[in-house]
Amino acid sequence: MPGLLSSPVFLTVIWLLSLRLGRAQIQTDEVSAVQYGHMQSNVTLACGKSQVRMPVTWRLDHGAVLPWHQVTSDGTLLLLHADHSAQGNYSCHDSRGLLLHSVRLRLGYPPGKLNVSCRVPNHTHVRCSWTEQVRTFLPAEYTASFRGRHDLQPCVLNVARKHCDVNNLSFWQTMHTLNLTETNALGSETTLHSVKLINQLQPNPPESLVVEPLEGHPRRLLVSWDYPVSWPLDDAFLLIFHIRYRPQGSVYWSEVFTSDSHVVITDALAGHLHQVQIQARDEFNSDTKWSEWSPLLLVRPWEAVSSTTEPPEETFTDYLFPFGTKPETSTAKSHNSVHPEDEGSLGLVILLVMLTVVILTIILSLIFVVWVRQRRHDHVTKQELNSMVKMKSVPI
Ligand SMILES: *[C@@H]1O[C@H](CO)[C@@H](O)[C@H](O)[C@H]1NC(C)=O
Ligand SMILES: *[C@@H]1O[C@H](CO)[C@@H](O)[C@H](O)[C@H]1NC(C)=O
Ligand SMILES: *[C@@H]1O[C@H](CO)[C@@H](O)[C@H](O)[C@H]1NC(C)=O
Repeated sequence: MPGLLSSPVFLTVIWLLSLRLGRAQIQTDEVSAVQYGHMQSNVTLACGKSQVRMPVTWRLDHGAVLPWHQVTSDGTLLLLHADHSAQGNYSCHDSRGLLLHSVRLRLGYPPGKLNVSCRVPNHTHVRCSWTEQVRTFLPAEYTASFRGRHDLQPCVLNVARKHCDVNNLSFWQTMHTLNLTETNALGSETTLHSVKLINQLQPNPPESLVVEPLEGHPRRLLVSWDYPVSWPLDDAFLLIFHIRYRPQGSVYWSEVFTSDSHVVITDALAGHLHQVQIQARDEFNSDTKWSEWSPLLLVRPWEAVSSTTEPPEETFTDYLFPFGTKPETSTAKSHNSVHPEDEGSLGLVILLVMLTVVILTIILSLIFVVWVRQRRHDHVTKQELNSMVKMKSVPI
């Protein structure tokens, strides 16, 4: 046995094992030792748990220059007003250069309040999304719950997408509160957000919008669509639809409201390309929101093939104020759909109108001047005649 213990092979095995264990020990230290600090503040890094009584040197990331710092007598490193660039792997070494301790420093801020908004695409689903008011630069964990007067439900988190979902909402009450807590290494913050479901109920836009010309009808368009898939097909929850359309280039929309799943437009402008869009809302509750608009569709009504005179290809401009339409009042997005060329031709029209007005004014004032002079001349001639008559009647 003693022979075995002193055998060179055994000793080598022991030495190799201790080497591996030692290295593993250092590695786990490196991986596990993360210290978090407040950005823009003084951060202290200790050289191991026990105070070191000998002089130590600190290194950062394999030789990078240390940021602004002090080393105290017990070997603690004090980083002054540490910022982003102070983050990294720090190690302290004894006078012979042997590694005593290493630590990874990450800097950031404690969480702040979150900006929360919730969407309700049908009567049983709520999705709340958030954005940070404070950028923390640190990994965080979240908890979320959705509380009504009689119930408490989890809000299922998707931290990467920064939202949470309440599925199968059990009670349709007016007020609910989302309780969302963010926690990181430096602190924790809870945000409470009140949701009035009825005001947030907003269907997704109707789907599969189709606009078709009707053969033999140059002023008609058949518009049809489907309920959004996220809205239940149930007589208890009906939608009302708002369709709007206009000749391409016009700024005036015509509109139709219906609860059906299709509608026939009868006053399209023959031969012109038309833009058509649709949105939806809960039929019974006008406090709820209209959906976003569906994407614009471009369709031209049916045209007789035999027509020799090609219909004007250029876009329609509003020379005439169409009846039963209302001017664009909604979003800038719709304004964007007016092409720049249209704006150019509109400018040209305004210029022409102004020019006409100026010319008319000049002609009218000329006529007026001529008329006034003529009148004065007439007047004078009349007076002369009068006086002549008078002179004649005077007895000589
Ligand atoms: C950081 O430490 C320096 C030097 O000890 C001190 O002058 C300064 O006031 C400290 N700053 C903060 C924010 O504590
Ligand atoms: C610091 O060490 C950790 C763990 O060993 C490593 O993942 C990280 O990339 C290192 N950081 C730098 C800046 O070297
Ligand atoms: C309500 O909307 C959610 C999200 O779009 C969907 O997953 C769910 O199936 C919808 N519920 C019904 C009853 O359609």
